[in-house]
Order: sequence, then structure tokens, then C-alpha cells
Amino acid sequence: MPHLLIVDDEPDIRELIRDIAQQHGFTVSQAGNIKEARIQIQRQQPNVVFMDMQLPDGNGIELWEKLAIPDARVVFITGYSSVDSVIQALRCGAVDYLRKPLRLQRLKAILSELKLLYAQGPDRDTSHAFARMVGQSEPMLQLRRHIERVAPTRATVLLIGESGTGKELAAEAVHLASVRHKKPFMPVNCGAISPNLIESELFGHEKGSFTGADRQHKGFFERAHGGTLFLDEITEMPMELQVRLLRVLETGTFMRVGTREELVTDVRIIAATNRNPEEAVAKGILREDLYHRLSVFPLQLPPLRERHGDISLLAHHFLDQFNAEHETSKKFSPAALKAMEAYRWPGNIRELRNFVYRSFILADDVLDGEFSPPEREGAAVGGSAGLATEISLPVGVPLADANKQLILATLKQCGGVKKTAAEMLGISLKTLYNRLEEYGAADDDTHEH
Ligand SMILES: Nc1ncnc2c1ncn2[C@@H]1O[C@H](COP(=O)(O)OP(=O)(O)OP(=O)(O)O)[C@@H](O)[C@H]1O
Ligand SMILES: [Mg+2]
Repeated sequence: MPHLLIVDDEPDIRELIRDIAQQHGFTVSQAGNIKEARIQIQRQQPNVVFMDMQLPDGNGIELWEKLAIPDARVVFITGYSSVDSVIQALRCGAVDYLRKPLRLQRLKAILSELKLLYAQGPDRDTSHAFARMVGQSEPMLQLRRHIERVAPTRATVLLIGESGTGKELAAEAVHLASVRHKKPFMPVNCGAISPNLIESELFGHEKGSFTGADRQHKGFFERAHGGTLFLDEITEMPMELQVRLLRVLETGTFMRVGTREELVTDVRIIAATNRNPEEAVAKGILREDLYHRLSVFPLQLPPLRERHGDISLLAHHFLDQFNAEHETSKKFSPAALKAMEAYRWPGNIRELRNFVYRSFILADDVLDGEFSPPEREGAAVGGSAGLATEISLPVGVPLADANKQLILATLKQCGGVKKTAAEMLGISLKTLYNRLEEYGAADDDTHEH
């Protein structure tokens, strides 16, 4: 049976936690200050500690760091609602935090999650979470270690990395390595939803709350209940909605559009951006307070060019997949592999995958010469090997068709990197997404765009 120690100077709080924890199958001991806590730990080493941040004889976080109880988890209790204290708590490895006055529902949610975590043991097998993540380079191994550390906590994760580096895959790995893995993982692309609809998409709406709202609608927060919500392209979220999101993160509650009823969320948030978040803050497209709240645990995705050895590993991985799908046994020539290793891959893994697929289609048995060597460093960013750099259009072709051809060809030229394509075309990323949606080409992971 897991053992829980409650360190708080308020007897009422201790008793409340004790009762609920016992109902969840924990044995419980209590301490009102640091001195008593040390005595209790000597008597029985806890698996979980609920620790007040402010104790009569010192600071809870400092005590926790000094104690260093092996394999134990901590939940901090705070009397202040400052974001700083919460972030400080999560940064030092707390699985969660509780605010005074305690909310029963949250307390129960935290205890059942800890129970699950404990049932799986301290060295539970998380390899399934990484099954789709290919890579043996040091930056990838480190990323995996960090994901394993942060997964069981409720800390908000901010994934930062260039386009195509695998942010969505990493977000999914965090979800799969957490105790929430049986609950929904819900990706939301903040740049792809119309700004008019994004609020009701996230929080839901009541029937009749605006024109066209002809029935009640559950938002992503409700649908992801118990699971993980992945907010992709967070900098594309309209500013006023960023305020609302911050509020949800702070209070753990939200309201459907058109109601005043507060609903409690039990959702783990992972956000991602392919921009430098600090620059986004400086440019005024990402609220600073939201940035700090989201980046409790920032994770940087390494660009492919910095992942030594992984290019060839990934290229073979994709080729094996295509061979299996098509029942072929095509191979890379040594020259092709060398050329791939030397290329900068501005579109990262997505570009590599698309490239291998095109070469695969073009080759009879060996993927080599057909495949003009990828451009070297210093070549135009976004240039991709073996692709036309011009399209020809007959005079009189409808403008809409010309637009479509130009957009698709540019995107292809950029190795599928939408941000670069949008910049080249002089349109916003949002416009590009909308167009691709119209063309039915919005799905990132079709082999050919
Ligand atoms: N480590 C990996 N091993 C195998 N495939 C990967 C890996 N990382 C990414 N991929 C594949 O590369 C493609 C791009 O990955 P993903 O969509 O996660 O990138 P992203 O960082 O979210 O890109 P964007 O910023 O453009 O949305 C996907 O097809 C994904 O499955
Ligand atoms: Mg993505």
C-alpha cells in the first residue's frame, strides 16, 4: 500500500487530505512542521508527500529538496495564488499542486492519478510511448529522458522546434508515457481554426449563444477530459483568447460560450511553437504571462541537422516502410546516403520523409542518380532536391487554379514547410492553412503534398 505523508500546519487540511487519501488506499502519516516531518520520514519513508510551501519553521520547497527521498513524489500546497509559486513548485519536480482552500474534486483527481502511478511502479515500462520516435543521437536520447521525467507530472510542457522536427510526435509521447495514456490525446492546431470559432471550439458553447449555434457543443477542453490537449502553433492563437487560456490554466475551470457555469477541467496541456517564443513575446503575438505559464517545462526539439547519425537511421526507417507497403526491396546507393547526410534539411524529418518517398517512386531498385544531390549548405533555404523551381501556366487559366498550382508547387519546393512557403508567397500562415484546407491538402502527413 502506498504511504503518504502530509506536512501542513493546519490540522483541518491534514485531516481532509488524510480522509480522502485513505479512501484511495493510502496509509497516511502527518506532520505540522519540518521537525515533525523529519521524524515521520525516519519512521516510515513515504511514497508521496503533500507539502505546504510555507511551514512555521521554514520553506516547503527547500525542505523537499534537502530530503531527497528516493522515488517519492511531491504535491505542494500553496496559500498564494501567484503563478510564480506554482511554477516554482512544478519546476522542482512536483507532480502537481493544490491551492488553499482545497477543492475536493481536484484533491480526488490528484490522488487517483498518484494511485495509478504507484500501481505501475517507479520503473514502469514507457517504451511503448517512444515506439514511433526513431533516433539514437545524443539530443534524441536526452529528449526521451526529459519526456520520461515530465510525463508523470501534470506540468505544462512547451515544445519548441523548427517545422518537421517531430513536435506532435513528442507531444503524443508525453501523453503515452503518462498515466493519462488511456484517455484522449487531442491535438488542436490554433493556426488552422478560424479566429471567430476558436473560442467555441476550445471551450464549447450553449445552444443559441450566437447565430448558428443551434445546439450545445462540447469544446476540446471537455472532449479531452482526463487526457491531454495539444495546442499546436500556440502563437497563432488570438491575443484575447490567450487571456482566456491563461485563466483556465490558473483556475482549472472554464465556461462554455454563452454560460456562466464553471466547469472543472482535468486536462494536461502541451503547447508547441516553431517560433522562438521569446521573439514571439517581443513581437507581441504571444502574451508574456501565458508564455511563462506554458513553459513550466520547455522541451527543445533538435533540428535534424544536429542529430548525428539519425539522418541515415530515419532514411532507412522510411525506406523500410515504403518497401513494406509496396512489397519491394529498393535500396539507397552509398552516394545517395552521403548526399542526404550532408544536406541541411530545413524541413527536417517531414522533408526527409517526403524526399525518400519521391526518390522511392522514381527509383527502380537503387535510390541514387535519379535523385539529384540535395543542395548544400548555403543554398536557398527551403530548396529541396530534385524539384522543379518553375511552373508554367497557360494564359487564361482561371486565377483560382493558378493560385492553387502556385501554392502547392511552392509548398513542395519548401519541402512541405508551411511557414517558409507562406513567407515566400507573401501570405499569412493562416491563409495558407485555409487554402490547403480548401484544396483538401491540409493533412501534413500524406506522402506528397
Ligand atoms: N523521431 C521521429 N521518428 C520517425 N518519424 C518522425 C520522427 N519525428 C517526426 N517524425 C515524422 O515526421 C513528420 C513530422 O513530424 P511532426 O508533425 O511531429 O512535426 P512538427 O514538429 O509538429 O512540425 P510542424 O511544426 O510543421 O507542425 C511526421 O510524419 C512524423 O511522424
Ligand atoms: Mg506539428
